[in-house]
Amino acid sequence: MTKRLWIETVGCQMNVLDSELVVAALRRQGWEMATASAEADAVFYNTCSVRQHAEDKIYSALGRVRIEKAKRPGLVVGVLGCMAQKDQELIRKRAPWVDLVVGPGQLHQVPTLVADVLAGGGPRIEVSLERKGHAREAIARSFESYDPDRDPAMRPTPFQAFIRTQTGCDKFCAFCVVPHVRGPEQARAPDTIVAEARKLVAEGCREITLIGQTVNSYRWNDGGRTSRLSDLLVRLDALDGLDRIKFVTNYPRDMTDDLIAAVRDLPKVCHYLHVPAQHGSDAVLGRMKRGYTIGEYMEMLGRVREALPQAAVTSDFIVGFCGETDAEFETTLDLVRTAGFKNSFIFKYSPRPGTKAYDRLPDDVPEDVKKERNRLLLEAQEDVSLAGNQRFIGTRQQVLVEGLSTRDEKRAVDPGPDGIAQLTGRTMCDRIVVFDAPTRLVGRLVDIDILAAGAWSLSGVVADGLANAVPLDSLTFSTEPPAELYDITLNSPRSSTGSLKPEA
Ligand code: SAH
Ligand code: F3S
Repeated sequence: MTKRLWIETVGCQMNVLDSELVVAALRRQGWEMATASAEADAVFYNTCSVRQHAEDKIYSALGRVRIEKAKRPGLVVGVLGCMAQKDQELIRKRAPWVDLVVGPGQLHQVPTLVADVLAGGGPRIEVSLERKGHAREAIARSFESYDPDRDPAMRPTPFQAFIRTQTGCDKFCAFCVVPHVRGPEQARAPDTIVAEARKLVAEGCREITLIGQTVNSYRWNDGGRTSRLSDLLVRLDALDGLDRIKFVTNYPRDMTDDLIAAVRDLPKVCHYLHVPAQHGSDAVLGRMKRGYTIGEYMEMLGRVREALPQAAVTSDFIVGFCGETDAEFETTLDLVRTAGFKNSFIFKYSPRPGTKAYDRLPDDVPEDVKKERNRLLLEAQEDVSLAGNQRFIGTRQQVLVEGLSTRDEKRAVDPGPDGIAQLTGRTMCDRIVVFDAPTRLVGRLVDIDILAAGAWSLSGVVADGLANAVPLDSLTFSTEPPAELYDITLNSPRSSTGSLKPEA
């Protein structure tokens, strides 16, 4: 009988891609996607370890699935990804009903491991080597890259896809668990990346986002010739049928002039650069071991602004990092007030076992202070974001239509291909735009006249056609700051676009 899978994904785009690949592999073995976890033969959680909160969410989900497992002992429960690598046996100690613990470097084994468990082979833990105490080569080998065939059914939308440029990270910022759970930085060959893009475009993909922990550190050496990210962008830009190319996340020190020029000169590359600053003070950046000063960050930003005056630059910030004083926090506030970020993802520091900060620096900023600083920084960013968005009122923007707006998704009615719904899409500079239009436009590029702006989104009307269809007072904005870059929660199957399909 056909087996059915339910998979829940939290964390970043890497995890979304990993889930897509796991689903693709299992579907090739005859598995189907369940429509509810209660109907599934296997329930998987693809996990994140970047902050404690992300782990707590999974441990409470495991508590809930325990009840299901008690009713149906044959149910296979799997914990995949970063938390599996970080907690290993601890997961089975805390939740002995878990059958599979599989790190990000072992995901290719999932089909075999599930088959073993179903055949009565008992629980399995498969993880990579720790980053201490082994040769780099051996550690790197234990994190196998996993990028076989793709599966559009599992992507947030079928016309957008992620492609990995490299796995792992070697920067070892003092607060960050990623180098420990995702292993050493390993680049994929440019030919492999371009071939994957070509295949995705042939399947109808219009937008590709290259992903790497530090995507702009990409280097591939092939017999003396080095390919950089800018070289990859040149090759991808030449693909017929592809509309847009994005890349995340950038490391400030590796924002070189060749890359900035590629973004300026290649028509398909989006004018959107996520370059996390993390903090505004040199002392804190030093404690964080980020490897640059704020002066160097501003110099980089100056080069970006000069070449790309319209580009959207976004950042991440950590508030309440070890020893952060009021005066140090003020420097971050100043940076947000003056640097003109389109938006910032703001996080309260969460100590992560295994990191340098966890071992050497006390987590001494009280929780209520972290909360207050988070609020203040978000408030400052909101003012900057609103002012930035208001500059778009009265302009015409090309938007890639992504699907129903949150409002209409919640209504859960399918208006059909010609039915008008409230849709959402993004500009070349990654701004969210909300507008009313027929749902058959999902997956297409459409010109929108921008009529109004909120801090986190723009709204408008389809240019030349529907201009009078929407009364101004019906314009709505998302009221939540964007969190989708890191706080993705995807329940299987595709949840964000419902039954909407792009036109063939
Ligand atoms: N280079 C990666 C970073 C992953 S972590 C990428 O963006 O793809 C994403 C963000 O989470 C970081 O930029 C940082 O701002 C935040 N972060 C990382 N570790 C954290 C911690 N221990 N506590 C709070 N925030 C953290
Ligand atoms: Fe983390 Fe710093 Fe790498 S934030 S992913 S260690 S660049």
